[in-house]
Amino acid sequence: MSWREAGEDILDLRRRVFTDELGWPEEWIRHGRDAEGLHLCAFADGRMVAAISAYVYEPEAPELASVKLPEIDGPTVEIGKRVELPSHRGHLISAQIGTSMLRQICESLRPSRFFLIVRVKRFRHLIDRYARRRFVYHTEIGSGDDAIAVMKVDGEDALDEFYLKHRELTRDASAGEGAIPVPSLVRFLADNDRSDLLAAERLGAENNYLQPLSLDTEASRLTAQGRMILAEQLPRLASAPFPTAPASLLDIGTGTGEYLAAVTRENRFAGYRVHGIEPVPHLLARARSNFPQFEFRQGSAYLTGEPDSSHDVITANFLFVHLRSPDLALLEMRRVLKPGGLLYVVDVDDSSFSGPEVAQRMIESYDRDYIGDRVVMKDLPGRAGEFGFRLLDRFRTRLRNTGDREPLPGRDEIRLGVAEAWSLLSFVRSQPGIEPLFQEAREHCFGSGCEISMNLETQVYRLAP
Ligand SMILES: C[S@@+](CC[C@H](N)C(=O)[O-])C[C@H]1O[C@@H](n2cnc3c(N)ncnc32)[C@H](O)[C@@H]1O
Repeated sequence: MSWREAGEDILDLRRRVFTDELGWPEEWIRHGRDAEGLHLCAFADGRMVAAISAYVYEPEAPELASVKLPEIDGPTVEIGKRVELPSHRGHLISAQIGTSMLRQICESLRPSRFFLIVRVKRFRHLIDRYARRRFVYHTEIGSGDDAIAVMKVDGEDALDEFYLKHRELTRDASAGEGAIPVPSLVRFLADNDRSDLLAAERLGAENNYLQPLSLDTEASRLTAQGRMILAEQLPRLASAPFPTAPASLLDIGTGTGEYLAAVTRENRFAGYRVHGIEPVPHLLARARSNFPQFEFRQGSAYLTGEPDSSHDVITANFLFVHLRSPDLALLEMRRVLKPGGLLYVVDVDDSSFSGPEVAQRMIESYDRDYIGDRVVMKDLPGRAGEFGFRLLDRFRTRLRNTGDREPLPGRDEIRLGVAEAWSLLSFVRSQPGIEPLFQEAREHCFGSGCEISMNLETQVYRLAP
């Protein structure tokens, strides 16, 4: 929430806890950057019961020097002023909104550093608690009542680990009872003229998909996958309300363009202008030379470089699971799609995976450490709804390893041979350290003939007119 709309209530809440319970002086109640801070508040029966704030600093901000943090490139985010009414403690409300806020900041603001301060006279025990959340003790400043400890997270690996930890915590919380729905930070910033805080422009080169994979091993996997998916997709595509030509279609994360070409060969796309966006130069080069009839441009899902309201249809095939910030992509899609335009998404959903315990463990382990989000399809409708996308249709197709070498598409299921199913899962091996688990799961499945299966999901949205 903005300080303008909620500042008085937040101060009131802080005073009830910090002044009335802890006896803090007024200057500790306020923060010098409250006016431009980000404030996430929880309400019960129309009353604010918990809040947490985040403050974004530019690299040379004097406040950073005052807590002995050296200048680094990129923004620094301070988390603080977490507060909860005594009547609402014990329900993990402020913990949930805090975790959720950190996850969203990691996804969409991508700071180079987080820090927080602990007033050690009374709260030294919190240092251990924050350490469990991956904050590292940095320094202690001042003495007596004024003494503070500064804890921080910085460095690429530590920040990634911090993100994964908070993503896992939000997933656990959202699966439990009393989960609190948290609105999108990206939408809030974009709709309040504060898009400058979003990281989209810094993420042009980000690609979680290709980094560990070589094109040679991956290209044949993609071709096989594309052939199989097309058979499943034809009836789905036929039932979607695509506009009649002339119309413009933009495929984001188009890869080598092979799948896009196969889809748009269908009659209903005759007369369409077809465009593809791909961040990886060698995939883009291949797409351009294979399909000169289409227009391919280098760009990312977060920053396509397309004009506002320029396309009637956006397709995203096997893209969303590779994004760390689906909300930034949805914001960009909202911008480039014409009002009333169609968004057509196809992806796998690992949360639907079923198989023997060892295979389940392999998928869970991979997903926990993968910086993209392989269960995003589960909450994409909620996220997309915040950006004005209304879900028109949702189809699930079960992929099973109970078929023969040639995939057998049936109604809402595709049966694959055991070896073919495992070759589709081979991406798992790109993650360091997972190979023994992959081998164990594979051998178990080949030996026992057990079934593994998961959903492929299609979601069709219309952007508000
Ligand atoms: C699994 S491949 C799918 C390719 C193609 N859509 C298909 O279905 O065959 C994922 C694609 O998304 C691209 N990609 C990854 N991160 C991206 C991002 N941030 N913005 C746009 N594309 C991205 C990858 O380079 C890759 O081409």
